[in-house]
Amino acid sequence: MFMLMRLLYILPLFHLIHSFPSKQPLCHDDESSALLQFKKSFIINKSASSDPDAYPKVRSWRLEGENSDCCSWDGVDCDEDTGHVIGLDLSSSYLYGSINSNSTLFRLVHLRSLNLAYNHFNYSQIPSQLGNLSRLTYLNLSYTFFSGQIPFEVSKLSQLSSLDLCCNFDLSSGKYFLQFKQTLYLHDSGMHGQFPPGIFKLPNLRVLDVKYNQDLTGSWPDFQYLSSRLEEIDLGSTGFTGELPISMGNFGSLIALSIWGCNFSGSIPSSIGNLTNLIYLELSINTLVGNIPSSIGNLIQLAFLGLYDNQLSGPISFGLTNLTQLVVFDLGGNHLTGPIPFGLMNLTKLNVLCLWKNKFEGQFPISIFKQTNLYLLDISANYLSGTLFICNMTSLHILYVSDNYFSGSLLPCLHNILELRMISLRGNKFQGLLPRSLSNSTMLEAIDVSNNQFNDTFPSWLGNLPNLKLLLLRSNKFYGQILESLETNYQFPNLRIIDLSYNSFIGRLPLKSFRNWNTLKLDNESHLSYIQAEISSSAGTYHMYYEYDYTMQLRNKGLDIAYDKVQEFFRAIDMSSNRFVGEIPSYIGDLKRLRMLNLSNNILTGHIPPSIGNLTMLESLDLSQNRLSGEIPSQLTQLTFLEWFNVSHNQLAGSIPHGKQFDTFENKSFMGNLGLCGNPLSKKCWVSDSSVPLPSTSKQIQDSAVSPFEFGWKIVLVGYGFGLIFGVIIGNIVATKKLDWLMKTFGIWQRTQRNNVTIS
Ligand SMILES: *[C@@H]1O[C@H](CO)[C@@H](O)[C@H](O)[C@H]1NC(C)=O
Ligand SMILES: *[C@@H]1O[C@H](CO)[C@@H](O)[C@H](O)[C@H]1NC(C)=O
Ligand SMILES: *[C@@H]1O[C@H](CO)[C@@H](O)[C@H](O)[C@H]1NC(C)=O
Ligand SMILES: *[C@@H]1O[C@H](CO)[C@@H](O)[C@H](O)[C@H]1NC(C)=O
Ligand SMILES: *[C@@H]1O[C@H](CO)[C@@H](O)[C@H](O)[C@H]1NC(C)=O
Ligand SMILES: *[C@@H]1O[C@H](CO)[C@@H](O)[C@H](O)[C@H]1NC(C)=O
Ligand SMILES: *[C@@H]1O[C@H](CO)[C@@H](O)[C@H](O)[C@H]1NC(C)=O
Ligand SMILES: *[C@@H]1O[C@H](CO)[C@@H](O)[C@H](O)[C@H]1NC(C)=O
Ligand SMILES: *[C@@H]1O[C@H](CO)[C@@H](O)[C@H](O)[C@H]1NC(C)=O
Ligand SMILES: *[C@@H]1O[C@H](CO)[C@@H](O)[C@H](O)[C@H]1NC(C)=O
Ligand SMILES: *[C@@H]1O[C@H](CO)[C@@H](O)[C@H](O)[C@H]1NC(C)=O
Ligand SMILES: *[C@@H]1O[C@H](CO)[C@@H](O)[C@H](O)[C@H]1NC(C)=O
Repeated sequence: MFMLMRLLYILPLFHLIHSFPSKQPLCHDDESSALLQFKKSFIINKSASSDPDAYPKVRSWRLEGENSDCCSWDGVDCDEDTGHVIGLDLSSSYLYGSINSNSTLFRLVHLRSLNLAYNHFNYSQIPSQLGNLSRLTYLNLSYTFFSGQIPFEVSKLSQLSSLDLCCNFDLSSGKYFLQFKQTLYLHDSGMHGQFPPGIFKLPNLRVLDVKYNQDLTGSWPDFQYLSSRLEEIDLGSTGFTGELPISMGNFGSLIALSIWGCNFSGSIPSSIGNLTNLIYLELSINTLVGNIPSSIGNLIQLAFLGLYDNQLSGPISFGLTNLTQLVVFDLGGNHLTGPIPFGLMNLTKLNVLCLWKNKFEGQFPISIFKQTNLYLLDISANYLSGTLFICNMTSLHILYVSDNYFSGSLLPCLHNILELRMISLRGNKFQGLLPRSLSNSTMLEAIDVSNNQFNDTFPSWLGNLPNLKLLLLRSNKFYGQILESLETNYQFPNLRIIDLSYNSFIGRLPLKSFRNWNTLKLDNESHLSYIQAEISSSAGTYHMYYEYDYTMQLRNKGLDIAYDKVQEFFRAIDMSSNRFVGEIPSYIGDLKRLRMLNLSNNILTGHIPPSIGNLTMLESLDLSQNRLSGEIPSQLTQLTFLEWFNVSHNQLAGSIPHGKQFDTFENKSFMGNLGLCGNPLSKKCWVSDSSVPLPSTSKQIQDSAVSPFEFGWKIVLVGYGFGLIFGVIIGNIVATKKLDWLMKTFGIWQRTQRNNVTIS
């Protein structure tokens, strides 16, 4: 980057030295005075140029002395024959101020190249008079703090082949430095208003990139006759709307087209099949309806096809066998029906196959499991059946087959699937044993086999997986005693979320494995990061990058909750509805970051350990339907994030602690314990409520007795209500469309190689 810039500065000098002997005409007076007045219209201000190589080029501009010829001025380039100023490069020159409509810049009508990048034009409008510089072929206004609309007049610059308006308005979000000929880069510019359709018609334009300008509106232009040379159009995440016209098929030079995250509606015109140069086609996250046109089968060069999150329906009726170059095929989140076409097996280059959340039905073709290049297979939430043979998919990183009708046993694999990070088989009818070969997939972070019919002992052999964070075995036929790390040498060193509920485990609670949570080095918890896998895939000069968030379902706070993302530091233990016996070990208080603990519906005895009061992050505690006895320890009132609390149907006695969160729990949290008394139960304790403090609740009463008027009930509710809301956020219950959208769209398509993308 810096090398390149120096080169740019050397060029004018070079030009000067070599042109000296020849008789170069002097600069025209009107142009030199126009330049000087243009210089005067700005304040020289160091903070106007963020570029480290910046310096005020205009400082050398003066009419007196040897340097009076404006053609020798820094940044000025003249035509050798006519002496007219044809190039002006004032990039990174500390210019601060605005360019008005009467600016003398517009008198330089011979300009072919104008670069004002890295100056500060004080959020003013891009002057429409630029349209009068009709000879311009190159215009660079990147990083210039212009705001507002691109004037329509700019689209009338018929000679213009390269326009860079990148990264205006919000410097900090500009991430890309791009070098290109015949290109228009406007992405991330905070543009708003209507996009001039004429720009699509610029005869020399090859690249049109306006992505990430959410307030920029427009529609796909309906030009019947068009000799466009556009090769790349990226309207991703802008406010473009309307239908895609049939004339779209006229953009025959297109190699890459992205309109993801816009508001395009209507059906996909079959003329899209005329864009036979397409390598990359991304129409995801719009409201496109109707069938996928069969003409897509003509796009034999296609490597990326993204249609996810639309309302497409009907079967996959185009000839997949033609699309042998496909590396990414994502149809998730539509209403597609019918069987999965066998043609998929011919797509041997596939890295990503996503068919999630559709209405596909029938047997899933076994041949697809021969795809040894697949990194990501997500066929979740369909009506698919059959058996699963993943053993040969040795490149697999992510496998989601959840919520289908798959059945049968999983064969033990002869090959190791060494790249596997996430596997979700949830909500099928799998039986038999968990494949032991998973213990060789040392990258594994998440295993979800909930809601199946696995009949196996606890997979303690997974305990050597160094990265395993989630283990969800809920609602299967797992049985037997769970041997702990000391007995088995399996540590589960990274496990954060475990769900063993609704199985037939017996013996003591296996909690020792989690005691290392104290010593776990945790990343900065204030920074929200999610458990996710990263995948990238390339075809030619195009490159795709996916951040795939792990999803899960947990029963938390009495609700079945679908988590679209799982925070790295979320900690939860659900061992409910088994036949665990014995006491709750007091070292449970060591599991410091625990946010959810559900031990309900077991055969637990003994007291509730007061050390649970040390689990200060706890949001949900369910110990109901056991045989616990003794009092509810007053230490539990220290749990200020506790939103859900249930000790019903035990053999607890004594008075219910009160204060803080405990004032918000209702009687159903406590019922079915014959010995319990006090609010919110109707049974009164035999000592009157506050006059004779019980030993176990004395601190409590002291607290609230300090100032009964200032620290009244309402304030308590509001104060701890905040904790409650905080808890919800931390627990990350996310179900909105918007976040769902984020989850699936982290497929960001980027070009590489051709333009040295530097991501800062
Ligand atoms: C210099 O430019 C900055 C913007 O980069 C502006 O905030 C500041 O007021 C300017 N200073 C002067 C003296 O104009
Ligand atoms: C920058 O814009 C502000 C607000 O419009 C204005 O007050 C100020 O004079 C402008 N500064 C320059 C140097 O143009
Ligand atoms: C341009 O017009 C503004 C008012 O819009 C005025 O203040 C300024 O002096 C004018 N500049 C020139 C160079 O005429
Ligand atoms: C700029 O072009 C417009 C027509 O597009 C014309 O009316 C105007 O006079 C031109 N201005 C100058 C300074 O040439
Ligand atoms: C625009 O100018 C800046 C600064 O000189 C440069 O880094 C950038 O590459 C230019 N953009 C184009 C498309 O030439
Ligand atoms: C594709 O282009 C050909 C001519 O190049 C035209 O005859 C045909 O109608 C076009 N097909 C579609 C579906 O637009
Ligand atoms: C395959 O592509 C060829 C053009 O290369 C086309 O004629 C044919 O109809 C396509 N087949 C299918 C099934 O789409
Ligand atoms: C698809 O694959 C099958 C089996 O490998 C093969 O018989 C068939 O010819 C292939 N079709 C095409 C169009 O390549
Ligand atoms: C997996 O590969 C083995 C050879 O390693 C082969 O015998 C078997 O048929 C393959 N299974 C599937 C489902 O492709
Ligand atoms: C793990 O991999 C090793 C080496 O490939 C192999 O010998 C062993 O059988 C595998 N273990 C399981 C349980 O598949
Ligand atoms: C689990 O499998 C064993 C045989 O391995 C069988 O005896 C037992 O009945 C099965 N349990 C359930 C609940 O199906
Ligand atoms: C709670 O933790 C503190 C140290 O953090 C310890 O001193 C205390 O004994 C613990 N309380 C219980 C009840 O375990």
